[in-house]
Amino acid sequence: MANALIGIVMGSTSDWETMKNAAKVLEEFGVAYEAKAMSAHRTPHAVAEWATNAQKNGMKAIIAAAGGAAHLAGVVAAHTTLPVLGVPMPSKHLQGLDSLLSTVQMPKGIPVATFAIGDAGAGNAALFAIALLALSDKNLSGKLDEFRRKQTETVLKAAPLKL
Ligand code: RP5
Repeated sequence: MANALIGIVMGSTSDWETMKNAAKVLEEFGVAYEAKAMSAHRTPHAVAEWATNAQKNGMKAIIAAAGGAAHLAGVVAAHTTLPVLGVPMPSKHLQGLDSLLSTVQMPKGIPVATFAIGDAGAGNAALFAIALLALSDKNLSGKLDEFRRKQTETVLKAAPLKL
């Protein structure tokens, strides 16, 4: 298997159902990725080691997902200068608003690009990571153009809406 260009890290295996949406998009574009469950709270040393070595291991960006007091993306960003794309997970009690605010409100100096809560955020984080790679990969850039073209076509082809 090719070396992973994109790392997907999530706070718990319970986040995988949502984060599969990112993995699926990367697979559709033929982008090699590595997906792992690791927690900023439960396995802090493992997260630090993985994030510290990500660039040396050939990764170009990291998608980090967590729910609740969602520190994972910020902690990953603290250990690497790779672009970190944060995806807030839906949570049981606050429907992901807690995750969103925890991920998006990074103090200045350590950026995390934060996406929508849940499935849309997971898919868009993958598309954004692909857009980053496409800056220096013409083949991928062409695939991204084709994806947009087909998406537009699908919307325009939809039958008129009627009651
Ligand atoms: C977070 O707590 C995880 O990212 C997950 O979204 C949430 C719940 O985790 P589990 O209790 O299901 O392992 O750290």
